[in-house]
Amino acid sequence: MTLIAQITDPHLRVDGRDPAHDPAKAIRRAFARIAAMKVRPEAIVLTGDIIDRSAPDYAHALPLLREAPVRVLPLSGNHDRPGAFRAAFSGHVAFARDHLSFVEPVGDVLVVGIDSNLPDGSGGVDAARLDWLAEVLGKADAPVILALHHPPFLTHTAHVDDDGFAGAEALASCIGGSPVIRVIAGHTHRGMQTLWAGIPASTCAAIGYGLSLSLSGDPHEPVDTPPGFELHSFRSGGLVTHPVTLPLS
Ligand SMILES: [Fe+2]
Repeated sequence: MTLIAQITDPHLRVDGRDPAHDPAKAIRRAFARIAAMKVRPEAIVLTGDIIDRSAPDYAHALPLLREAPVRVLPLSGNHDRPGAFRAAFSGHVAFARDHLSFVEPVGDVLVVGIDSNLPDGSGGVDAARLDWLAEVLGKADAPVILALHHPPFLTHTAHVDDDGFAGAEALASCIGGSPVIRVIAGHTHRGMQTLWAGIPASTCAAIGYGLSLSLSGDPHEPVDTPPGFELHSFRSGGLVTHPVTLPLS
């Protein structure tokens, strides 16, 4: 059995001006919950937006993440700062040379983190990332969980879908028929599940502030939804995801 936790979108900020609950407190609660488990996850995949907006926030985030009871695999989000991110987390995983993607064996699966932050600030994958991914998947000798910040699927929420995901079709072609068994993302600050490219795909609820649900196209806004994380359990060839909800205060 292999158990992997997913925590996303803490938006840690050194000035403490969080729009809702304290994300650092919520992360400590998630760490305590994980540490108390009889069967612990082997790793925590952090699917991006580790900080909110300024590189000094990493000085706040790093000591907190060092409290994790298991190793942390960090992915960059659109609020992260690529240069500062690489410097902050180069000891956690071996990043690709030209982007912040990584591949990491965890128990019986391979976690492939693909950096979905394009140089122009949009979300998606370009030819360099797709080439990198195709090579990694070609060598994969275990089932793959593909992790990224931006969901590559349509979410039916305008504030996410209007921005789009560059290269979504090419990414779907790349993982079709590959060892990828699951796609996990963050960015939406709400839990969502779908089938994409024939593969179960989801976003995880944020450990930081939530976003209001808007299926009408009306503007969304930060709301104080209960923080949460997910546990992805792989056993006998099957993967089951268990959401965990934490208290607001
Ligand atoms: Fe976010």
